[in-house]
Amino acid sequence: PIKGNNMPSDLKIAPSILSADFSRLGAEVEAVDNAGCDYIHIDVMDGHFVPNLTFGPPVIQCIRPCTKKIFDVHLMIDPAQPHLQSYADAGADIITVHVEADAHLDRSLQMIREMGKKAGVSLNPSTPETAIENVIDKVDLILVMSVNPGFGGQTFIDSQLRKVEQLRRMIDSTGRDIILEIDGGLNPETAPKAIAAGVSAIVAGSAVFKGGGSAYADNIRSLRPNLKV
Ligand code: DX5
Ligand code: ZN
Repeated sequence: PIKGNNMPSDLKIAPSILSADFSRLGAEVEAVDNAGCDYIHIDVMDGHFVPNLTFGPPVIQCIRPCTKKIFDVHLMIDPAQPHLQSYADAGADIITVHVEADAHLDRSLQMIREMGKKAGVSLNPSTPETAIENVIDKVDLILVMSVNPGFGGQTFIDSQLRKVEQLRRMIDSTGRDIILEIDGGLNPETAPKAIAAGVSAIVAGSAVFKGGGSAYADNIRSLRPNLKV
């Protein structure tokens, strides 16, 4: 059974380009767009907040003309606040910052909204859902990490499902349409559990980009709930 107000048909699939072929990044973005994704999930890592280092605003700006889909930019950088405007200018539609990387989260969320972008907040697996209680009125998206951020291809941490259920209740009690997204280790086995717990958006890197371009459409479909259930 699907809990909360998210109907299966509203489920958003957000391929993480961390698992794309970086030597052909523009073509990879076009391929997942054509394969029926909803968002493009863009993992920005700084080698400090997380052990890995990826890319920043110039690369995002380069791929912006490749698709009209929503750019869901996940900032795993500390500090994030001095860089928010650069990501907005590069073409982000949603900018998500981590609770753990921001002593002034309330201000960052307000800044993102003042830039005309959707404001997201992300929680590491060890961070309780209560960490966002006091800012929930200023968020458009909540991103639950179901792996420790830094790398693609890790194993889904089951304890995060309980956090998703709690956040679904918190969101429903606001009466606002906040996107509840989950990221890390999502595949055709784990996605249904996350959907049942109440997510409305699923990030997937390795599960979407495996098998090359001709497999992307099937890979994306395999993450959507079976409507007959
Ligand atoms: C992890 C990133 C994820 C990652 C997901 O730090 O935030 O978006 O790319 O990759 P998979 O789906 O392979 O776990
Ligand atoms: Zn991510």
